[in-house]
Amino acid sequence: MKATARAHTNIALIKYWGKREEALILPTNNSLSLTLDGFYTTTTVDFREALSQDVFMLNDEAVTGEAYQRVTKFLDLIRGLSGKTDLYANVHSINEVPTAAGFASSASGFAALAAAGAKAIGLNLSDQELSRLTRQGSGSACRSIYGGFAEWEMGTRQDGSDSYAVPIASKEHWDIRVAAVVLSSTMKKVSSRAGMKRTVETSPFYPGWIESIPNDLNGIKAGIQEKDFEKVGAIAEANCLKMHATTLGANPPFTYWHDTTLRVMHTVQEMRANGIPAYFTIDAGPNVKVLYLPEDEARVEETLRNIAGVTDVRLSKAGSGITYL
Ligand code: DP6
Repeated sequence: MKATARAHTNIALIKYWGKREEALILPTNNSLSLTLDGFYTTTTVDFREALSQDVFMLNDEAVTGEAYQRVTKFLDLIRGLSGKTDLYANVHSINEVPTAAGFASSASGFAALAAAGAKAIGLNLSDQELSRLTRQGSGSACRSIYGGFAEWEMGTRQDGSDSYAVPIASKEHWDIRVAAVVLSSTMKKVSSRAGMKRTVETSPFYPGWIESIPNDLNGIKAGIQEKDFEKVGAIAEANCLKMHATTLGANPPFTYWHDTTLRVMHTVQEMRANGIPAYFTIDAGPNVKVLYLPEDEARVEETLRNIAGVTDVRLSKAGSGITYL
């Protein structure tokens, strides 16, 4: 009863920002992402009769506290689906998602855990069922079941049965690249979970965010099919700015941006003024991800590395979906 799976993290081009139901993780809007090959988690789940509780090792260290609770709660879902509710597991995860790169490891982490856990306990899930299960660990993780571009359909049902990601275009469809720009920041972080909750509950800008989503989604999906980089980049950048604008309206107000975040944003816009098509997007943290085309890689990397306050730049191509090892 043992299985190993690998999942890659993803970067949202149309952001998931807000839940309509917290326990099941049901979002208030559809979102769309690109899976990245540079950052991933490999997880082995081993269910054993002899265990009296779950054990979770991350990068060879035992995990306790809240992170451990999230994993055991998620394993409870897998146990419940299989009917084998009295089995505990050894979970061993290796993260190739440097926290410093500003990617939440929860997306690749829960996708790999769901895939390995379901397989180990003998569930034979379709991609759609696996995405729906993964969603309940961390929302953005449900998109990491697929490679390339994926859309998380929010669904309408209260039981969450129609809320899962679907593939939009494979990584072979279009070679677009992402630079993860790492900043030397020690800012205290508002988690994405807490940040989106506060925004939904208190920001007067939130309804405007929700209203603007269908147009952004239609535009970006057309842009992906047409491989229109300017269109996709411009929509992704504007969507990110709108998401971050909602946090400024929250009570108490907050922002994930740092002075260096703004410097990187300005530099990307300057690159465009100088004829290099590059666009930024930012998740729930100060680090910036920059979208660019392969032919501009050297110039984009050099420009980003030269910004004061930038400590590292990590380049990535589009990645694949779940793989079993
Ligand atoms: C800004 O998926 O981390 O990265 O569902 O509460 O675990 P939970 O939140 P999470 O939120 C991700 C928010 C985001 C945008 C995105 O990835 O779509």
